[in-house]
Amino acid sequence: MTLDDLPLRDDLRGEVPYGAPQLDVPVQLNVNENPYGPSEAVVADMAAAVAEAARGLNRYPDRDALALRADLAAYLNGDGATGLRVENVWAANGSNEVMQHLLLAFGGPGRTAVSFAPTYSMYPEYARDTHTRWVTGRRADDFSIGVDAAVTTIDEVQPSVVLLASPNNPTGTALPLKDIEAIAAAAPGIVVIDEAYAEFRREGTASALTLLRRYPRLVVTRTMSKAFALAGGRLGYMASSPAVVDAVRIVRLPYHLSGVSQAVARVALAHSDELLAAVSDLRAERDRTVRWLQDQGHRTAESDANFVLFGTFPDRHAVWEGLLDRGVLIRETGPDGWLRVSIGTPEEMAAFRAALTEVLTEVLA
Ligand SMILES: Cc1ncc(COP(=O)(O)O)c(C=O)c1O
Repeated sequence: MTLDDLPLRDDLRGEVPYGAPQLDVPVQLNVNENPYGPSEAVVADMAAAVAEAARGLNRYPDRDALALRADLAAYLNGDGATGLRVENVWAANGSNEVMQHLLLAFGGPGRTAVSFAPTYSMYPEYARDTHTRWVTGRRADDFSIGVDAAVTTIDEVQPSVVLLASPNNPTGTALPLKDIEAIAAAAPGIVVIDEAYAEFRREGTASALTLLRRYPRLVVTRTMSKAFALAGGRLGYMASSPAVVDAVRIVRLPYHLSGVSQAVARVALAHSDELLAAVSDLRAERDRTVRWLQDQGHRTAESDANFVLFGTFPDRHAVWEGLLDRGVLIRETGPDGWLRVSIGTPEEMAAFRAALTEVLTEVLA
């Protein structure tokens, strides 16, 4: 039997599961993970917390994840938010699930969601899966949003949800707060600022968390997958007004967030100083990578994230493949001709630089 024999939804026919290749190569720089795993001390605390959680696994977990949400609120209050409490915060299995909850609650048949491309390629999938009409505006050549055009699009299509990544994936571009304010003022519905990479932002780049008090329909999503080096733990979260949290609670599955996930995330938060210490190294490595790429004559997008979009190559697939042949996996994504490299350890970045130099010498030869 094949998919064609099944009563699959018509709009899912021909679709394939989302995901970058998971290949077992020495240098993996393709999904913007944090290359630094937790220290043995953190691992030991996580193991103890998991053991404690395991003793209670015959019972369902705290459906509302109250202790975890309180910890997340405290963390955000230290990163630009003010006065956030449990009822302002929601958590789920990755920020992907948080955004799916938002689309389930605020999207749907007869409704529209808007974003500005190039951007995170999961957004249209949330819309597809929730039967929400999907409209994309274009970013400018420097990947900024072009706020006047964005406001015009919003006026025209009256979206229930606007989804904006800041810093944006795959470009690394952060949105100025004044642009977010203009969009929040124009949008009739929910405005989601996806700050998956916020902790990597450069000095002087502000977080939209500072705007939450003034815009009750603004939502800031975050994740522990990147700066907190917890991609495998699957923990994403959002901050907004309590009414928005009440809305997503309607559509979440009961006990969606396992007791083990909650326990591990709380340990990571308790060790946030240590886990986030690597972030400044990664930011410095990112800036070095940008300078090196520019010195080699490549174009780079301004990056406030833990990756760099660079190019342009007449045959980017050949470059991507050449790197892979040399054990370096990056991402073939973004507009035509561009490639994206995640920031790894200094050794991994040295391997990337050596491989790219070799490939380009070969391709040009
Ligand atoms: C912009 C952006 N948002 C959200 C996510 C989802 O991350 P997670 O579901 O691991 O929190 C990613 C993952 O790469 C991303 O790039």
